[in-house]
Amino acid sequence: MLDRQNKRPNDLSAFWMPFTANRQFKETPRMLVAAKDMHFTAEDGRKIMDGTAGLWCVNAGHCRPKITEAIQKQAAELDYAPAFQMGHPIAFEFANRLAAMAPEGMDHVFFTNSGSESVDTALKMALAYHRVKGDGSRFRLIGRERGYHGVNFGGISVGGIVSNRKMFGTLLTGVDHMPHTHLPGENAFTRGEPEHGGDLADELERIVALHDASTVAAVIVEPVAGSTGVLIPPKGYLKRLRDICDKHGILLIFDEVITGFGRLGAPFAADYFGVVPDIMTTAKGVTNGVIPMGAVFVKKEIHDAFMNGPEHLIEFFHGYTYSGNPIACAAGLATLDTYQEEGLLTRASELADHWADALHSLKGEPHVIDIRNIGLVGAVELESIPGEPTKRAFSAFLKAYERGFLIRTTGDIIALSPPLIISRGQIDELIDNLRDVLRMID
Ligand SMILES: Cc1ncc(COP(=O)(O)O)c(C=O)c1O
Repeated sequence: MLDRQNKRPNDLSAFWMPFTANRQFKETPRMLVAAKDMHFTAEDGRKIMDGTAGLWCVNAGHCRPKITEAIQKQAAELDYAPAFQMGHPIAFEFANRLAAMAPEGMDHVFFTNSGSESVDTALKMALAYHRVKGDGSRFRLIGRERGYHGVNFGGISVGGIVSNRKMFGTLLTGVDHMPHTHLPGENAFTRGEPEHGGDLADELERIVALHDASTVAAVIVEPVAGSTGVLIPPKGYLKRLRDICDKHGILLIFDEVITGFGRLGAPFAADYFGVVPDIMTTAKGVTNGVIPMGAVFVKKEIHDAFMNGPEHLIEFFHGYTYSGNPIACAAGLATLDTYQEEGLLTRASELADHWADALHSLKGEPHVIDIRNIGLVGAVELESIPGEPTKRAFSAFLKAYERGFLIRTTGDIIALSPPLIISRGQIDELIDNLRDVLRMID
């Protein structure tokens, strides 16, 4: 097995890599061939500490035995069964387990295969919900600048990342965006939730007034925006969004693809902030990133609104060939067991102070213009090289990899989100290395 893994494929050209500088990568590839707990193994045998839980997904660390065994067992017993007009027990069992741990009232779960699919599912549910209630004039969706909701057409339409949108035509119509909440002038180097910017939620009132509430179906936000560089909601902001949505009969969707499953120190960001949405999208940590899966959590009232009409008719014309795939469900159940047995869904709250102290010790290092943290998420923002945005952070990424650490960069922001099993010593090791990297790059 290792022989095969250790051999560099002789041709890297066929695989058009996602969200990658393909030519740079193929010139100097960075190949990972194995992983265990907090570390990957690179093809040259070096251990690489995972400072990002893969892509914010491997919350329990890599190659956890219980999850591996569950997948092997399920693959040998029931590899696949259709979920359209047919069922298999493990999908129901997993949905029940998820609903039991969800914020109050989120009793129903719709399975997808990714965060992007969860988002598009949630948007469709919101539109269809108003329609089945006889309120079909509510067709508008409101997202936010600098929001990331995956890469499907719904997600990029409500999302607010220019490079993810500009190539792809007119997108969904009837979409508007709230301003982002990143206020470096006022909030730089804040630990946790920033003081300034809660009133930006009132922009929602302005947008609703412009379009009239009777045309607005849903608002979607990441409780903590991850992919655009860890933007932490200002104090009171999310609660204010909830109040405005309630006032106008608008559904509130939290995209918890990153924040779900313990990242902030509570099972979901909804628990952490004490604000419960109507629909919640998840993926990534739902199976510890091991098998593609997403889960959309829905309030009972929304689900029940669909359950009318003749009983032989399909209530919601939506679903995926792999919704509730048995192997993904087996991985998910074993993931939840692992999280529960090891207390991982709340572990980030125990580590949060140590994490914050370590991260903020980077203040004053070269290029650093802001540091942000919440739960076990952190961002170190660097001053861009004039005329060459992203280059400085990318050099940090390459240098860190050379030194045996995987970090993630977006623009000139370094984002960190290690597996929730990280030890205090490993946090120090990660941050000390980052300090060295900052001192080395131009
Ligand atoms: C908040 C959020 N939503 C959606 C997605 C898309 O998930 P996927 O890449 O599984 O489609 C991501 C991925 O990072 C995300 O962070």
